Amino acid sequence: MSSDVMERENLSMASVYWKRPLEITHGRGVYLYDKGGREYLDCTSNYGVAITGHCHPRVVEAIREQAEALLSCHGTFYSEVRSALLEKLTSVAPESLTRVFLSNSGTESVEFAFKLARRSTGKKGFIAMMGGFHGKTMGALSATWNKKYRTPFEPLVPGFSHVPYGNLERLEAAIDDDTAAVIAEPIQGESGINVPPAGFLPGLRELCDEKGVLLSLDVIQTGLGRTGKMFACQHYGIEPDIMCLSKSLASGLPIGATLATEDVMSKLKMGDHSSTFGGGPVPCAAACATLDVLVEEDLPAKAAENGGYLLGKLKGLEERYRIVREARGMGLMIGLDLRFDILKVILGALDRGVLVLDAGRTVVRMLPPYIIEKGHIDTAVSVLDEVLGEEEAARLRD
Ligand SMILES: Cc1ncc(COP(=O)(O)O)c(C=O)c1O
Repeated sequence: MSSDVMERENLSMASVYWKRPLEITHGRGVYLYDKGGREYLDCTSNYGVAITGHCHPRVVEAIREQAEALLSCHGTFYSEVRSALLEKLTSVAPESLTRVFLSNSGTESVEFAFKLARRSTGKKGFIAMMGGFHGKTMGALSATWNKKYRTPFEPLVPGFSHVPYGNLERLEAAIDDDTAAVIAEPIQGESGINVPPAGFLPGLRELCDEKGVLLSLDVIQTGLGRTGKMFACQHYGIEPDIMCLSKSLASGLPIGATLATEDVMSKLKMGDHSSTFGGGPVPCAAACATLDVLVEEDLPAKAAENGGYLLGKLKGLEERYRIVREARGMGLMIGLDLRFDILKVILGALDRGVLVLDAGRTVVRMLPPYIIEKGHIDTAVSVLDEVLGEEEAARLRD
């Protein structure tokens, strides 16, 4: 199936993405629609972005109102909507994170975190996690683990090393006098929905304190309610020194935010960093509306409840099919680990009207909008059941 749009995109767009054979025209709530009006149940939130559902009326209205008033406003000017966002964001964030730098994407929020850590400690080294994903610009890429992303672009930024995710002994051994910060995801997303052992994040906090090293958490995928709490570190009662946020914050408009403690942020000097678009009024308005909806509708609690329901159902598939290695996750951040490459499963689900993501080669990743209901989950799981059933039967035949 090929449309004029597909042909035009294929002709001119940099070919860095694998493409689904699907041209999306609009979205409402948990559904996306193609040109022919076919409905797709979206269990991707467009890679963890559309957490309030597609085109939530309050978010759309906030964008429309702001767009009519002012489209751009550089950080050197004051802006009412920016100040409102800063207030709302710091009021839901871990208490000690009182300062914010606003940018436009996840990778930018990570870049700023690295500069901040070097500036505030005077040290140069970073320790990241094997399997970690932090973005693809040169600094963030230096912390990202996957060699497929890194190797073609070396030399990367010096000073980065990686230790096994969840292993505090190896981390302790890797910290030296020049270590500025440790960076980790509370749950690794891109590399397969890896939930660390329960003691890992508290242990990480303790170790960083003991060694005088900053702890930077990348909550870009887990952030803003997906795991069942506004920020995943809140499950463990710990606070990082620096926190990188993006994806979901403005329900789909580009935004990044790096939060830090007063002490860490106070070491910055005028001009150390800047962004022409960062903190622009339209993404700020969308983020304000997103935070209002999240808080007023208590969406993190919904993510916890419906995530538990979804994981329970996927555990049923784990028991039923030999080709399923494991179902795992937290809240509405869930992976179904299979014993083979999952592209056929993703495309099979798409054919049946359900959109899911990949994470690594073998994990079907589900990051649905938090407004998903149990009935939608039943539909998604029965489609996966069908696709896996066919796949298992085919593999037994071969
Ligand atoms: C944990 C994490 N960090 C960073 C990024 C990079 O974000 P962006 O694609 O907005 O640069 C991602 C994107 O998937 C992510 O999941």
